[in-house]
Amino acid sequence: MIKVNLYKPDEIRDESFKYAVITAKYGDKWVFCRHKERNTWEIPGGHREPGEKIEETARRELAEETGTMKAELLPAAAYGVVRESGETFGMLFFARIHSMGDLPQDSEIGETRLFDDMPGKLTYPEIQPHLYNFILGWLNEKEQEEKTMTKKSSISREQAFELLRRYNKEPFHIQHALTVEGVMRWYARELGYGEEEEFWGITGLLHDIDFELFPEEHCKKAPELLREAGVSEDMIYAVCSHGYGICSDEEPRLEMEKVLFAVDELTGLIWSCALMRPSKSTMDMEVKSLKKKFKDKRFAAGCSRDIIAQGAERLGWELDELFDRTIQAMRSCEAAVAHENSVTFHG
Ligand SMILES: [Fe+2]
Repeated sequence: MIKVNLYKPDEIRDESFKYAVITAKYGDKWVFCRHKERNTWEIPGGHREPGEKIEETARRELAEETGTMKAELLPAAAYGVVRESGETFGMLFFARIHSMGDLPQDSEIGETRLFDDMPGKLTYPEIQPHLYNFILGWLNEKEQEEKTMTKKSSISREQAFELLRRYNKEPFHIQHALTVEGVMRWYARELGYGEEEEFWGITGLLHDIDFELFPEEHCKKAPELLREAGVSEDMIYAVCSHGYGICSDEEPRLEMEKVLFAVDELTGLIWSCALMRPSKSTMDMEVKSLKKKFKDKRFAAGCSRDIIAQGAERLGWELDELFDRTIQAMRSCEAAVAHENSVTFHG
């Protein structure tokens, strides 16, 4: 009979760890591998080599067994496997894989496969379900924690604007970025997230960072550009989630992500409406004229009505409410956006 114990990562002395096991996700799928000589599935992992730090074991095994090139790696728990001969310890990691290549030529692994859930035929059926289930609970807890945590931006507004300018030269794109920033700031204050205004605003500013240079890789290139500049993973997730269902698999979960999803296309539509007005402004725009243009599918045909409607639904708001609030949000920043845009392009 085998028993599996789980401990906090620091509850077990580092020298005791003989193994590293890495439960890994790629997008929303779980990564399992199959040994060349077996027809069962296992969580990537293996023996610690002499002189290796346990994190190094985890990175090496992940590369050897799945071809992972880049991943965020977090220690989740220490585990002990109790047999008659005693208890042996390993460190259980969770990895979010960012890029995967081919398996190394000399790999013992015959195949790496992505699963929605833990596969049925396991190499170690007495051990792996304990680890997998632990990770499910651990991830859930982390997600809850994240929901209640105050979001802070890891880069300053100035750095973010510089970053935007590095990859965006078109005045139209800069104006869109500034508008979405201003709108996100307004919503942060309006919805009771005043302490997160910087985070909401900077996410808005950077949400289309990759669109001008890499339109075919929209939301795919962004993580790379943002990570390089020191942007934190929660902001990267939020940026990607605005393309959910079109160019990304990251679903909007937080209210902030839902707002970004809903206003991205809508600010484009509102601005197109504004330009039709004698005032060329949102200041005197009313919801009913926006509704008319929303229904006229030929007007600003590039702005997806479907995404806007989906956005309102995700927020649990009526379309009118989303329209009304977003017009107010655009009024709040219209002058500042025009000013910053003109300073940027005309000095
Ligand atoms: Fe956008």
